[in-house]
Amino acid sequence: MKTLVKNIKSLLQVETTPRLKVCGSDMAQLPHIDNAFMIIENDTIAAFGPMSELAEQTFDAEIDASGRMVLPSFCDSHTHLVYAGSREIEYIDKIRGLSYDDIAKRGGGILNSAKRVQEASEQQLYDDAMARLEQIIRYGTGAVEIKSGYGMTPEAELKMLRVIRRLKENSPLTIKSTLLGAHGIPMEYRGCQEKFVDLVIERMIPQAADEGLADYIDVFCDAGFFSVEDTERMLEAGARYGMRPKIHANEMACSGGIQCAVKYNALSCDHLEYTGEEEIQCLLNSETMPTVLPGAAFFLNMQHAPVRRMMEAGLPVAMASDYNPGSSPSGNMQLILSFACVNYRMLPEEAINATTINSGYAMGVSDKLGSIAVGKRANFYITTPIPTYEYLPYAYGENKVARTFLNGKVV
Ligand code: NIG
Ligand code: FE
Repeated sequence: MKTLVKNIKSLLQVETTPRLKVCGSDMAQLPHIDNAFMIIENDTIAAFGPMSELAEQTFDAEIDASGRMVLPSFCDSHTHLVYAGSREIEYIDKIRGLSYDDIAKRGGGILNSAKRVQEASEQQLYDDAMARLEQIIRYGTGAVEIKSGYGMTPEAELKMLRVIRRLKENSPLTIKSTLLGAHGIPMEYRGCQEKFVDLVIERMIPQAADEGLADYIDVFCDAGFFSVEDTERMLEAGARYGMRPKIHANEMACSGGIQCAVKYNALSCDHLEYTGEEEIQCLLNSETMPTVLPGAAFFLNMQHAPVRRMMEAGLPVAMASDYNPGSSPSGNMQLILSFACVNYRMLPEEAINATTINSGYAMGVSDKLGSIAVGKRANFYITTPIPTYEYLPYAYGENKVARTFLNGKVV
């Protein structure tokens, strides 16, 4: 099957020499071709260029994209989108003045979702998550990382990971799975948290590895949750089974999480509201992608990670949705673009790099996704008619994605 997309007003994020990530001042560059064509062969990008260079040939299908732009699909490298029920009542508690921490301490928050996941059937979790995947596809996402973490018992964590495996098998999205055994501390382990860490190490990690259920391992390494010492024990156990870390760090405090991520060669460390010069210097000598979650910072009304300073220092920055029922009940990556520009003062070019190639790196797929390059997988979208690419973050709240292609096929 050979498909031509022609008369593209602007083909964005094109690469002739593909990179795995984009760092520092390079993030302000967004290579593009105006009045372009792109050829798809089966599930792969086979060629692209200006319309004036399109050679005479036959196609099985032709799409006219006049007035519309084409972008590589978003890579959403951090979500918790397998969950049961919603938490809008806690959202009201927060409006009335309770903090995330207050809610967690009284057994709400993550523990509230854990109870519901424990009670839910695997089929129900699967159906609900599949509906969420269909929704994020319509907003332009082409790859997504999904974490466990609302199980909190070996049985329920494994149930969540099996749901993710079924999603991988049945969704056209590229999906990576992460074992987040240490997301919160169950009530019965308060005061003897190291015993819960033992449970993660002795049961959850080996069982997940045994069934091949987890690509990565995550820990909520932060003040009030898991210490650096707890985290190191779990990451070492994960490493014995070949699970590379992607950890939650520095959302609540300068807790040493970033240094811990770098020490264990994490693929990413995520949240980063509390990031100082020491953390930035540490990340500079690493292969760990600093990942910011603007939806959670917005929804919890938190201080913002120092993204501009990070880029000035030469770091790459990725952004993801954190789609989850507690701190970011949306997986709409177009909104993340708008938050990036307004709340972090990123340029549209920087925001697009953060949500495509760099977030692709943060989930280990940027060799295949995250840009328009020959040989990469044909996951892209055609926009509605828009005047400029800057319009994408500007017109927040409007769906600018008209047609999505995943693996070369319309979905
Ligand atoms: O990434 N920060 C930790 N975990 C999630 C929140 C999960 C929840 O509140 O349910 C996050 O924001
Ligand atoms: Fe998260």
